[in-house]
Amino acid sequence: MSIRLSDDCSEVDWDALALVFTHAPLGERTPEKLRDAFTNSSVRCFVWNAGQLIGAGRAITDGVTYAAIFDVVLLPEFQKKGIGAQIMEHLAAAAKAPNIILHAVPGKEDFYRKLGYRKMKTAMARFANADKQKALGYIE
Ligand SMILES: CC(C)(COP(=O)(O)OP(=O)(O)OC[C@H]1O[C@@H](n2cnc3c(N)ncnc32)[C@H](O)[C@@H]1OP(=O)(O)O)[C@@H](O)C(=O)NCCC(=O)NCCS
Repeated sequence: MSIRLSDDCSEVDWDALALVFTHAPLGERTPEKLRDAFTNSSVRCFVWNAGQLIGAGRAITDGVTYAAIFDVVLLPEFQKKGIGAQIMEHLAAAAKAPNIILHAVPGKEDFYRKLGYRKMKTAMARFANADKQKALGYIE
C-alpha cells in the first residue's frame, strides 16, 4: 500500500469518486454533484493508492473560528487501516479553525470520538428531506 493525500481536484475522476461513495457505503451521489461539492469546499482531501482513488473528505471553513467536515469516505478494503484518521487530520489542519463540527453516520460516532470529537448537546439541523433523515437516524 502506498497512500498519498492530495487536495487537487484536477486529478479526480468524479465517476470514480461516486463509486467510492457507493461501495463505502455513504449513499448514492451523482458525479456532477460530487464535483461541485468538492470544488466549492474550501478544504479537500483525496486519497490515492498506486494511482487509484480510494477515499476522500471535505470541509468548509472560515479560516478563523469554525469549520465543518463532511463526506469522509473510504473503499471498504482500505477501512480500519488508519487512513480515515489521516483524512481527518489533513482536513482539520488545512481548515485552520480551532472549532470543528460534523455529524456522524449513526454507528460511526466512536471513530470521531477517538479523534477528540464529542457529542453536541444543542446541535440543530434543517434538512431538505426531514422524513428520510429521521428514518436514517440523524434527527428526532
Ligand atoms: C468511517 C471511516 C471513514 C473510518 O475510516 P477508517 O480508515 O476505517 O478508520 P481508522 O482506521 O482511521 O480508525 C481510527 C480509529 O477509529 C476506530 N473506528 C473506525 N471506524 C469505527 C467504527 N465504525 N466504530 C468504532 N470505531 C471505529 C478504529 O478502530 C480506530 O481506532 P484505534 O485508533 O483505537 O485503532 C470509514 O470506515 C468509512 O469510509 N466508512 C464508510 C463511510 C462512512 O460511514 N463515513 C463516515 C461518515 S460520518
